[in-house]
Amino acid sequence: MERRKAIKKQRKGIKKSYRITVVGCGHVGLVTGACFAELGYKVCCVDKDKKKVSSLKKLILPFYEPGLFELVEKNYKERRLEFTPDLKKAIKSAQVIFIAVGTPPNPDGSADLSSLERIAYLVAKNLNSYKLVVEKSTVPVQTGEKIKETILRYRKNNRPFDVASNPEFLREGKAVHDFLHPDRIVIGVESERAEKILKDLYRSLKAPIVVTDINTAEIIKHASNSFLATKISFINAVARVCDLAKANIDKVAEAMGLDPRIGKEFLKAGIGYGGFCFPKDLEAFLYISKKLGYEFTLLREVKRINEEQKKYFVEKIKDYLWILKDKKIAILGLSFKPDTDDMRFASSLDIIEYLLKEGSRLVLYDPQSKKEAKKLLKGKKVKFAKDPYQAVRDCDCVCFLTEWDEFKRLNFKRIKKLMRMPLIADGRNMLDRAYVESLGFKYLGMGK
Ligand code: UGA
Repeated sequence: MERRKAIKKQRKGIKKSYRITVVGCGHVGLVTGACFAELGYKVCCVDKDKKKVSSLKKLILPFYEPGLFELVEKNYKERRLEFTPDLKKAIKSAQVIFIAVGTPPNPDGSADLSSLERIAYLVAKNLNSYKLVVEKSTVPVQTGEKIKETILRYRKNNRPFDVASNPEFLREGKAVHDFLHPDRIVIGVESERAEKILKDLYRSLKAPIVVTDINTAEIIKHASNSFLATKISFINAVARVCDLAKANIDKVAEAMGLDPRIGKEFLKAGIGYGGFCFPKDLEAFLYISKKLGYEFTLLREVKRINEEQKKYFVEKIKDYLWILKDKKIAILGLSFKPDTDDMRFASSLDIIEYLLKEGSRLVLYDPQSKKEAKKLLKGKKVKFAKDPYQAVRDCDCVCFLTEWDEFKRLNFKRIKKLMRMPLIADGRNMLDRAYVESLGFKYLGMGK
């Protein structure tokens, strides 16, 4: 018994002994750092943005993510989590370095990997002991090879290192939960040492671990996001057929989803996917596939269908109202999905653009994204309302573009009284059509 206790204690000690550095305090990096600290490791989060680092030290987070503040506060106060802009020092003190910097899209669709190269270079220059360099950011296949080549090229000594891929599958708004309760953990490695360290790090999380080579791990991430985007475009294409045939997409999706081979998730038809992951990853997967010699035309079509959904939504309103010029239209919901203020590549941005081109007068409301929206729509002729009721006043149409819960609970009788023309364009199929029609609204859904 005593011996078992001693071994357990020893193992626990080993687990906690890894010193982790996470490079990049964005959505992925900060969640990864805070969650590893929560698991008991000593974590140093690095960001080149000194302002961001000093805010983090004052416990001011650069974005909202449910549950993250509590983890950061607790682990920072208990000294398992620290923040620094000093990458060199953070590399030297770490055994495991997670790279979680941005890989934004280049104009040709490829991923901009210059930040990764810079970090690989600095790892090489500061290789004072064995390091495991782990890609956390989403990267195209063969990036691991490039990181390894870069470190070998600039390394001045023979100190050992490994490169690994450990893609994240975190959803915005659920990232902390997704990290601590993953469906699967993917580990792409080249050595037993790297495999052991990564398995150790995740030991306390109960999830299947898929161990593979680095290229395969990199493809798993791109393929997963591309498949989810494909599912959304597929159901959106079926929604178009439903509109033509006067069928109901919600029922079609419900019945399809009951087949476990299909699954019910990601079958919600509407104005398409947005956000900083799907559009960018799809583009990058298309690009890298082509570079390797394969034209992934299916993904091109997925993208085309997604773009078309937004135009189709505006066409629907136009078909009904005939002339959109000077019509007053309320836009409820701006973020790319609910429970976030993130508006990057949000479907609402394109729809706003199309409506403005038609000459409509727009009043916008979102529970969280007003600040973001004001930045992104600077110079555009739009107004912001302080609540949904103010937004719909004297409008000819109200568009629902993000399925925030608070919109489902609106007083539609009051809304009808406030509007000039009771027209609802439901871009997320989130409202009860029968109910709003019973109040006298004209309802335009997507495939129902
Ligand atoms: C996505 C993936 O779901 C994560 O697994 C992945 O880790 C992440 O990208 C990433 O690569 O970092 P996220 O971008 O946070 O996560 O958003 P999702 O919840 O996947 O939604 C993406 C978009 O699809 C949203 O605009 C949403 O409205 C839309 N969507 C989703 C639909 O239009 N229909 C659906 O049925 C589901």
